[in-house]
Amino acid sequence: GATPTHIPLITDHTMNDITAAVAALKEQLGDRLCIMGHHYQNDAVVAHCDVTGDSLELARRVPGVDAEHIVFCGVFFMGESAALLAKPGQAVHLPEPGADCMMSLMTPAGLARRVLEQLTATGRRIVPLAYVNTTLGLKAVVGEYGGAVCTSANAETMLRWALDKGDGVLFLPDKHLGRNMAKKLGLAPDRQHILRLNGHGLINPESQPLERPLLLWPGCCAIHARLKPEQAAAARAAHPGCRVVAHPECRPELIERCDAAGSTSFLIKEAARLAEEAPGSTLVIGTENNLVDRLAARHKGRCRVLSLGRAICPDMAKVTEAKLLATLTAIAHGTAEPLTVEAALCGPARRSLTRMLEVCGK
Ligand code: 13P
Ligand code: SF4
Repeated sequence: GATPTHIPLITDHTMNDITAAVAALKEQLGDRLCIMGHHYQNDAVVAHCDVTGDSLELARRVPGVDAEHIVFCGVFFMGESAALLAKPGQAVHLPEPGADCMMSLMTPAGLARRVLEQLTATGRRIVPLAYVNTTLGLKAVVGEYGGAVCTSANAETMLRWALDKGDGVLFLPDKHLGRNMAKKLGLAPDRQHILRLNGHGLINPESQPLERPLLLWPGCCAIHARLKPEQAAAARAAHPGCRVVAHPECRPELIERCDAAGSTSFLIKEAARLAEEAPGSTLVIGTENNLVDRLAARHKGRCRVLSLGRAICPDMAKVTEAKLLATLTAIAHGTAEPLTVEAALCGPARRSLTRMLEVCGK
């Protein structure tokens, strides 16, 4: 029969042009450029990245990058952390500075400072432990109070460190991650407390059990929190024998029903391990769908990778290949405007980040 001819769509042309233009600029900029990207970025962007990773891996890699320009494909706090850890004179660029992790906005630095003042007013030593998904201003407050940053990959280690260091820990902003890690450490729910806050600080502090060792900020990731325990049960019923894993930003009631939980890199390794060790098996993953879809395509025919439920981060999705092209073009023309970080916040914020890198070993 006749061979069907492929008639390219206009959009195919446009996308191919963008892809080719990004590749050409990468070639032109050579060693002067390093493109870093988070695992939740879309495939077209990931394809151009020199380095991909979870939040911890990306932060760890920055000090070893020598390129003059780091283009960071991810959300704003990740770019800020990269700018903090970059060498003097190195420029960090975000293809979309408006991509901002919603959870990171749940802990305004001024409010966190006020709450820490209230919690330490009696002389109690409270160690703040901030998830990396926070603003620079918040990381600076944490640094000032002798605390540290953590990521989903090291939150358990960092929580143990913080609990050993003070009389109590203020974990912020993700209450779900905090509770999931507390469970791993065997800290009972009656040793934890989710703070009741308003815009001015603690509501009726005397009525709250603030003497408990783990105090949790009442924030969470709305995208992961949407995934429910019933979806794990439904997946097990529909795919008997399947393995269910999820990101620890999911609510504890769901994590309890999973076989394992961990950072985006952990989820990637789980899929690779299953494809290798248990061909034909099914892995159900509860996390952002760009990553799940990529793993499904990667392991097709060996391991069936399914999404536990719809979870799309609209901010991660704001970074597109076209915006990456615009950023590289501006760099090549010398007109790019790199990310600037407020000088006064850098010292204390860097302390909280480097404390994490030190505790967990670089
Ligand atoms: P990881 O640290 O696991 O990469 O996750 C970052 C994040 O924003 C998850 O929602
Ligand atoms: Fe932030 Fe949630 Fe998006 Fe991760 S998935 S970047 S925590 S809003």
